[in-house]
Amino acid sequence: MGRILAVVVLLALALSGAAFAGEPGFTPVEPASPNAERINDSYYWVAIFTGAIFLIVQGTLVWFIVRYRADRRSREQDGAQVHGNTNLELAWTVAPVLILVAIGSFVFYKLPGIQNVPAADRVEVKVEGYRYYWNYTYPNGVIAVDRLRAPVGQTMRLEVSAPDFEVIHSWWIPALGGKFDAIPGVTNETWFNPYAPGIYRGQCAEFCGTQHAFMRAEVEAMPREEFDEWLAEEAEAQEAGTSGLGEETFRGACAKCHGLAGEGDIGPVLRGNQLLEDPEALEEVVRNGRNAMPPVGKDWEERQLEALTDYMQEELLGG
Ligand code: CUA
Repeated sequence: MGRILAVVVLLALALSGAAFAGEPGFTPVEPASPNAERINDSYYWVAIFTGAIFLIVQGTLVWFIVRYRADRRSREQDGAQVHGNTNLELAWTVAPVLILVAIGSFVFYKLPGIQNVPAADRVEVKVEGYRYYWNYTYPNGVIAVDRLRAPVGQTMRLEVSAPDFEVIHSWWIPALGGKFDAIPGVTNETWFNPYAPGIYRGQCAEFCGTQHAFMRAEVEAMPREEFDEWLAEEAEAQEAGTSGLGEETFRGACAKCHGLAGEGDIGPVLRGNQLLEDPEALEEVVRNGRNAMPPVGKDWEERQLEALTDYMQEELLGG
């Protein structure tokens, strides 16, 4: 008995140590937005009950195994026959009902603050999942790939979707809220409002193909003035064709399969590839895909395609 108890206690200590040892542990990441904080609160509220139930059930199980093991009586002898126990039956009916009511009311109380997008003072951004990158469109038409810039202390409302030729992806920045599928033809709405400047990382959360693991997303939260300034400057630069959009698009849409320097990976070598000398042929491949390559740029605006082809010709030809 003593030895078994010791093993159980050690196991429980090891598990709880792993669970609460901070990052990277079993605990959720530190929330950095009101909606994420409410999800976090709900997680811990549910964890209190499930944790207690786990300990009670497992504790009782171990206790019964030891206490009622068969070697105390002969094989022929029946155990005690028990028929009904009103108090016990009432208890195991009423207790779960109360637990479910407690969990349900808490979560429903938190839900509006998670789900409803605050109406005032918000920035709206289109988030689209492609194999294997995220394409963002800001209200003034600015395009960005993988890294989403956002103002601190202001609601950013996201319209999460995917073009109709795509597969399903899933948008998830754990510190900034829940997971939302990017489904072709469907628009899901979510939001965040970052507490502090910083970079919040996430990962496509729906297996979408061979490079799914490289489909990461980042939100860079910055002071509001800085964000407004960046957005205005970026709009001008993209208009003029002097922005970093080409490189950003290459890193997001091309490099994950063809290598950061176009040196080839699961996709063919791009550096020095003759295709780059012919912008029309290049556009044809980018827009329509080829063999295993998806049509990464099928519905890009002209300026994103141009930015990419300019960048590729500059960086990957000759040098
Ligand atoms: Cu996109 Cu996984």
